[in-house]
Amino acid sequence: MSLPLVPPTRIDFDAEDRAWIAERMDEVLTTGQLTLGKYGTELEQKFAALHNAKHGVVVNSGTASLEIMLRIANVAGKDVLVPANTFFATASAVISAGGNPVLMDTDPTTLSTTAAEIERRITPKTVGVMIVHIAGFVTHEMPAIVDLLKRKGLWLMEDAAHAHLATLDGKHAGTFGWAGSFSFYPTKVMTSGEGGIIITDDEKMAEEARLYRDQGKASFFQNSHIRMGYNWRMSEPHAIIGLRHLHRLPGMVDARRRIGAKYDAALGKANSGARPMPAPKGCAPNYYKYVVMLPEGVDRAKLKAWLKAEHGVQCSGEVYEFPLHKHPVLSHLDPGNLPGAEIACGRQMCLPIFASMTDAEADRVIAALAAAHEAGLV
Ligand SMILES: Cc1ncc(COP(=O)(O)O)c(C=O)c1O
Repeated sequence: MSLPLVPPTRIDFDAEDRAWIAERMDEVLTTGQLTLGKYGTELEQKFAALHNAKHGVVVNSGTASLEIMLRIANVAGKDVLVPANTFFATASAVISAGGNPVLMDTDPTTLSTTAAEIERRITPKTVGVMIVHIAGFVTHEMPAIVDLLKRKGLWLMEDAAHAHLATLDGKHAGTFGWAGSFSFYPTKVMTSGEGGIIITDDEKMAEEARLYRDQGKASFFQNSHIRMGYNWRMSEPHAIIGLRHLHRLPGMVDARRRIGAKYDAALGKANSGARPMPAPKGCAPNYYKYVVMLPEGVDRAKLKAWLKAEHGVQCSGEVYEFPLHKHPVLSHLDPGNLPGAEIACGRQMCLPIFASMTDAEADRVIAALAAAHEAGLV
């Protein structure tokens, strides 16, 4: 009998969670308070408090939260530095807000960028920088990046879509700059089904974000539109789902960290071919993804297919298989010299990791990698 598959990820709502959610769904369906209600407000307040931020504004996706932040920063016609190693939405949100994304290279040891790379890319047209905490790693360069941008008079924002509760020296991802954006997409560390949130200490940013998310209306009861907003509202059913996962977030992150430590220990010892990536100094990652680096020349697709076929271990897609400028619709952004991003994207592989993963499942992944090494696949 073949073993059940170790899935790349699992989205966990246990019976207690489902009952909790169902009870509140019943309530909002009965009252008809289905959007912009008390559950959205509770999610905003609790998420912000857990991340040590003063304000939270929930919206209907992480893409929406990015675009709102960028519209508030008034990027139209201006350059915003974004990493080449990120999701499409980090750059597309800049474009949707009227700005020009300028790509930065990647340090393959942190999957992020560096202060030196930012400094190299700044021009008189640059107004700010979007840092992305890939896989839930927060680069040790954040303090240097904050200092550099202060000196240059540029803003810092964070696309923390991967980085719920990830920290650097105890400071939460999403709180290093003007505002941080998180995604609650189903595969993220916590989900609301679809959704996102902006966190910030700037009251004005929070107020503006509330205007933008509701069609730029002057207020909920007024039909006068004073900003170029959109329907970026989060519904109450989504907020209820998000609140339940938020309640479990610290525990779910601890569980991911336990699996991350287990992989680190096993892969650090064994010569399995795949190298674990040590967290940047001072960083407590949330292990949204567990990334290993493959030696040059390994056929990643073949290795993944073999792990699944022979050992029932299904790795997820890469965090990013190729950098942004390799997407046909963004090829015009290619500055022509992004060697670090090519290495980071080309050589990474993501091992299965999720909060409800058992030791037995993690052991199977470790054994499968060792077997792949023996078989000469890595
Ligand atoms: C780095 C990054 N930015 C932005 C987003 C967009 O978030 P959403 O899918 O909630 O719109 C994602 C999620 O997929 C992401 O991974």
